[in-house]
Amino acid sequence: MSKVTIFGAGYVGVPTGAHFARTHKVTIYDPDIEKINTIRQVIENQSDELHIHEKDLIELLRENHENIFLTSSIEEALKNPEFIFIAVGTPPNEKGRANLKYVCEAAEQIGEHLTNNCIILNKSTVPPGTAYLVQDLISKGLKKDVKFAVGSCPEFLAEGTAVEDLRTPDRIVYGCDDLEALDKITHFFTFLQRRDSLCSMTTLSSELTKYAANAMLATKISFMNSLALLCDTIGANVREVQDGIGRDQRIGSKFLNASMGYGGSCFPKDTQAIAEYALLQEVPLAIIESTIQINNHTTDYFYNKIVEDFQENLENTNFVIWGIGFKARTDDLRESKPVEIARKLMDNGAHVHIYDTVPGALNNFLRENPKYSHRFTLHNDQYEMFSDEIDGLIIGNEHEKFRNPDIDKLTTMRHKYIYDGKNILNNYLIKYLTGLQFQYKSVGKDSVVNGLDKAKLVSFLQDKYMD
Ligand code: UGA
Repeated sequence: MSKVTIFGAGYVGVPTGAHFARTHKVTIYDPDIEKINTIRQVIENQSDELHIHEKDLIELLRENHENIFLTSSIEEALKNPEFIFIAVGTPPNEKGRANLKYVCEAAEQIGEHLTNNCIILNKSTVPPGTAYLVQDLISKGLKKDVKFAVGSCPEFLAEGTAVEDLRTPDRIVYGCDDLEALDKITHFFTFLQRRDSLCSMTTLSSELTKYAANAMLATKISFMNSLALLCDTIGANVREVQDGIGRDQRIGSKFLNASMGYGGSCFPKDTQAIAEYALLQEVPLAIIESTIQINNHTTDYFYNKIVEDFQENLENTNFVIWGIGFKARTDDLRESKPVEIARKLMDNGAHVHIYDTVPGALNNFLRENPKYSHRFTLHNDQYEMFSDEIDGLIIGNEHEKFRNPDIDKLTTMRHKYIYDGKNILNNYLIKYLTGLQFQYKSVGKDSVVNGLDKAKLVSFLQDKYMD
């Protein structure tokens, strides 16, 4: 059992701390006393609400409470830890670069208060080389003669499935150039995870692995999104193509869902950050630059389908959006595509009725959009807003509740448009809806409704492919 301190009580710090506490003594430190008190109240059963929405997290915190210490005092946080994990935010700055302000502040504080030998690992997503910067900052601040090593241990958990991702990870990546420290990190993780999931490497490789993983996943999505546009044009179905390629194990079936674009606090930020970093290093990553471009374009493509249906005039129209978080089961609205669509609609004169399965997502939307307050209505019920004044339903995320809607409750709509931003309705349902005069639009499977124009394709081939 090791003594661990986690810097930062956010989306990464709290789940990671709760998970480490299965086998280690964990101190979660955050200078924000409110966050610390919120966690304390949850652990002490005085409240059931955390400042982050994460499935099973409350149960995990309570289960491991004996090993969890909470503090907003830096002196207490740095009382003899063997490992320190930095898990603070690295929000993008206006140039798309990761802002290292919080990581550097953490390093300075560690330097000032560290009194024992220790290994410091960065969990935050940072540009490669940051561990060396952290090392310098700690060295400069040190008041005592202690031995310390700095390395990287990027996090791969996804919001909404953090607890499960931590329990059964595909791999744990960590890197440190100090081999003695690297051995100790391996030892630390063998108490927690399967030995064959451990993946140790140099510091720089580990830091780059994090960006590479997110950029690769985002690229898979953008690849499918660009194919989706081709599918809509020629009459193929992107879901079928996805199935056809995803079963090739070399390609893999995950992260191939074409959609109105990826969002969240990670993919948009990290693809931008690695592209910018590579450019600054004068090794441009053209493929990632395209991934970003395609993502933006796909959202415009999806939005334009709506606008075109109303002849570019959205004044006095009313839309329902199911799912406003950047994906299902989160209250996080950062870079959320449904939010982007909602704002565009409202900017152009529409009124938007929003429902999400997570009440916190609605609260966040209310807080973050005061400018639009007269243009939207929030709902705690999935169907209560349907009436003969509704012009379209937009499916914003992939929650199961949206896959099989209660169609009887939709039939009152004035214009029966369904815009499926996540391609989640199945072909049978789409055909059934079409029979009821609904018009279905998606990203790459409009052919389910429109069919294909064989004659047009034949004449295209005759024209372009026959000498
Ligand atoms: C992502 C990664 O999946 C995690 O491994 C990583 O640790 C995390 O970023 C991070 O860097 O902290 P997250 O942003 O929580 O996790 O969410 P994802 O489930 O990856 O979804 C990101 C976006 O891609 C969402 O908007 C989602 O709807 C979209 N998506 C996902 C698609 O459009 N198609 C897909 O096939 C999959």
